[in-house]
Amino acid sequence: MQLLDGKIASKAVKEQLKQQVETLVNKGKRAPHLAAILVGTNGASETYVASKVKNCAEIGFQSTLIRLDENVDEQTLLDEIIKLNNDENIDGILVQLPLPKHISEQKIIATIDAAKDVDGFHPISAGNLMLGIPSFIPATPYGIMLMLEHYNIETKGKHAVVIGRSNIVGRPMSILLSTNNPYGNCTVTLCHSHTHNLKELCLQADIIVAALGKPEFLKADMVKDGAIIIDVGITRVEDATKKSGYSIKGDVAFDEVAEKASFITPVPGGVGLMTIAGLLKNTMRAYELREVK
Ligand code: GUN
Repeated sequence: MQLLDGKIASKAVKEQLKQQVETLVNKGKRAPHLAAILVGTNGASETYVASKVKNCAEIGFQSTLIRLDENVDEQTLLDEIIKLNNDENIDGILVQLPLPKHISEQKIIATIDAAKDVDGFHPISAGNLMLGIPSFIPATPYGIMLMLEHYNIETKGKHAVVIGRSNIVGRPMSILLSTNNPYGNCTVTLCHSHTHNLKELCLQADIIVAALGKPEFLKADMVKDGAIIIDVGITRVEDATKKSGYSIKGDVAFDEVAEKASFITPVPGGVGLMTIAGLLKNTMRAYELREVK
């Protein structure tokens, strides 16, 4: 078994971006600038956004964090987005999800200028992805593709089972793995909560992407020998032995599945770090698209 190490793979992506920024700045140009909007004080969202901001700083990107109260009305949030859309100095905009129930995520996402949609959630980005048109790719599936590329994992002709059909991970992941690209060309089965024979399908899989959000769901008896296992899960589970009071669990029962897998991502230290790498790559793409206009 070989570990697909997110620390190593994301470091390589970030190193390359950092050098690109240095070159830009040495030429007298401004650095790419990401704006993140965080509504409320959800603990996990706070952690993710803080990490995004920190990673921007590490590679020389500028970032702006806009915090809004949990009870903010939808129009105020829309107005903030419109301001960022019109701000020449902002290249990428992300609104951290989930949003409070009284705000329409669809409306918010559709209001972001598609040219600044570094999350790849806008209908234009999603449509482009489906059609194979170069676009912003949602950061987690993009990060997984970067991981496969870093470790040069052969995917062509393999059977990939993706568990979970969310707009953020499972569905775009299924499209990317099926697309004609160097780390695609798989036969893809997209499974979800209504799939009848999930275990049988998983046992046929050469690649499994577990993105359902159920801690340690994928067990060794669901995996064939030599399978490639990508764990997208990142659930906080109560843990009195930890200072924080919780530990982070993936969707894969790591210890037992690792014994059968050829490659496997750890949690933490796997896909989560690649998500950030994907976001940073998208932000550089947004910058480049706007700068050459
Ligand atoms: N919530 C969980 N994942 C994501 C992500 O990739 N982007 C945003 N904006 N919110 C999220």
